[in-house]
Amino acid sequence: MSGRLNGKVALITGAASGIGAACARSFAAEGAKVVVTDVQADKGKAVAAEVGGRFIAHDVSDEAQWAAAIAETLGAHGRLDVLVNNAGVFIPQTIEDSTLEVWNKVLGINLTGVMLGCKHGVKAMKANPGGPTGSIVNVSSITGFIGLASAAAYTASKGGVRLLTKSVAVHGARTYRTIRCNSLHPGTIDTPMNQAAFEASGDPEGMRAMFDGMQPIGRMASAEEMAACALFLASDESSFMTGAELLADGGWLAAAGPL
Ligand SMILES: NC(=O)c1ccc[n+]([C@@H]2O[C@H](COP(=O)([O-])OP(=O)(O)OC[C@H]3O[C@@H](n4cnc5c(N)ncnc54)[C@H](O)[C@@H]3O)[C@@H](O)[C@H]2O)c1
Repeated sequence: MSGRLNGKVALITGAASGIGAACARSFAAEGAKVVVTDVQADKGKAVAAEVGGRFIAHDVSDEAQWAAAIAETLGAHGRLDVLVNNAGVFIPQTIEDSTLEVWNKVLGINLTGVMLGCKHGVKAMKANPGGPTGSIVNVSSITGFIGLASAAAYTASKGGVRLLTKSVAVHGARTYRTIRCNSLHPGTIDTPMNQAAFEASGDPEGMRAMFDGMQPIGRMASAEEMAACALFLASDESSFMTGAELLADGGWLAAAGPL
């Protein structure tokens, strides 16, 4: 199948790297006009150039930058059909180690950033030529369901994204019918977010094996496998799905324990 996003304009946050960059590539290959946003300008520009898209420097925790990014997208393309709220940071701290600085940073990017994206995204989608329409994909995590002891703020942020998604979905459905919002919940994915932790651990191969083993399927996922899930939620193939949780975790949550 091809052309699954023909005629659609998609803005993807955190698209300079990992899952976001894979989304940019697959969405463009399926016919979307892609807007790549990120705080990493050089990498973001490279991804945008590769997919024939536009790069916008954009910190998702800043509301003024959201307004500017959406305005630039509408100025360039005249509409917004798909928004992937993918940008995120992982800063490990247990609840006992938690500092307010790290808590506010992680919540500011991972949760407030998604809220601002949904707010400005819905406002753009409701004004689309031809009538309100759009699909928002919020990248949560398996930690939207279970607690990671080593990352209290990250877990809280991803749990927040899971339920924020449902509020946005009900609003989009009741008010406009055709503006959808769903959450995507990856297990562990082989992206720079984890690769940095492997390198920092002093035992990269051991850490990689541990991460592979977290999933009953015996390996981490690729960024491209997550992009395939996001593509389904972004496209009209998921037209009856809103407020849903797409879990892509290699069987992690299906397993009751070590057996
Ligand atoms: N890698 C995993 O195992 C995993 C698992 C579950 C969920 N996730 C989620 O998937 C999403 C993508 O992560 P990834 O693994 O591709 O990581 P990544 O580090 O490769 O990519 C994250 C991107 O977000 C960008 N970013 C960070 N702060 C930003 C900000 N304030 N404004 C805009 N952009 C910002 C980074 O520059 C980077 O390009 C994140 O929300 C992450 O929490 C990842």
